[in-house]
Amino acid sequence: MKGQTDTLELFNIPSIKKEKNNGATVEQLRRLDFDGELKRKILPLCRLKKGDIWEDAKRGHRVGLLDATNSEDVLKIFGRKKAKLVVNDPPYNVAVGNANTSNLFKIKLNDYLEFSRQWVENAINIMDDNSHLYIWLGADYKDNFQPLPDFIILMRTFKELKPKNIITMRNQRGYGTLKNWMWVRQELLYYIKGNPQFNVEAEYTDIPKILRGYYKEVNGKITENLERSRSSFIRAGNVWVDIQQVFYRMEENVPGCYAQKPLKAIERIISSATSENDLVADFFAHAGTTLIAGEKLKRKVFTFDIDPIFAEITIRRLEHFRETGRTGWQWNNPFPELETQYDKGQKWI
Ligand SMILES: C[S@@+](CC[C@H](N)C(=O)[O-])C[C@H]1O[C@@H](n2cnc3c(N)ncnc32)[C@H](O)[C@@H]1O
Repeated sequence: MKGQTDTLELFNIPSIKKEKNNGATVEQLRRLDFDGELKRKILPLCRLKKGDIWEDAKRGHRVGLLDATNSEDVLKIFGRKKAKLVVNDPPYNVAVGNANTSNLFKIKLNDYLEFSRQWVENAINIMDDNSHLYIWLGADYKDNFQPLPDFIILMRTFKELKPKNIITMRNQRGYGTLKNWMWVRQELLYYIKGNPQFNVEAEYTDIPKILRGYYKEVNGKITENLERSRSSFIRAGNVWVDIQQVFYRMEENVPGCYAQKPLKAIERIISSATSENDLVADFFAHAGTTLIAGEKLKRKVFTFDIDPIFAEITIRRLEHFRETGRTGWQWNNPFPELETQYDKGQKWI
């Protein structure tokens, strides 16, 4: 794992101080939410202008440069189409890596809740009568666990939505870790609208069952729980322990994207909530993870980001996946047009 302090790890930010530039394992892009030279160079390479929508000729995916809080923007990309599943991953209202940027902002809690209310309303409007809504959110223990509890209370005001579960992503560097303890949680809030189907088969992990000894008499014979099970593997349950946070040694890593979610988590959600060709929505595209998961599983995805660089990366990630079969760039660069330069000992463009 990369060795930098707490949140830098969680949000996939390359370690600047400790990582030696040996040419092999150094992430090739700095955090793209920082303004400045890097953004200035990349912006001309971005094909979408504000309000634009790119339509994929092959599967009909759409990627927009749009604002999740703007109802007209949301209607523009969805039209009359309704999503069977929304997987949204808004900024968590923490200053990631101690930097407050326009993409990952930390604002007053009331303003954050107003931002949340607007995008949730827009999400409800494009949800099918029977559909699922998953929301990634964090709780900052340095700031009284905001915004998780506040957001949950806000969700009570949306009468169309019924809460189903809170899933916790196991934090490899959480409780009990001696060094580099990560203090930001990642929870997955799960709500439904109407009465959607849930495919429980999608919830099996590849972790074998180990607990035995629950006896029950079946047809006059005493049976043990493993004999009665539908599977010899455990279900994911509400603490997902089998999913690795993305970091730069993984194939799916997208350099420059500090808040990328693991593909495996989104694939699990999509498989449990939808069928082939169903429409999946993601209002906060960033590294385009939901789009890649949808492409792999033959679903259609409409997604967008407010930042032209992340909208561009989302489109490029799909193109790159189709060309190479790779889900990310690992430590290669999604913008090879730019020449390589060096800054503070770290390779960047
Ligand atoms: C936490 S990241 C999403 C990560 C994504 N799930 C992934 O796996 O790559 C949040 C993203 O929301 C975008 N964003 C912030 N405000 C937005 C808004 N009002 N509308 C759309 N996108 C927004 C940011 O630019 C950032 O890329």
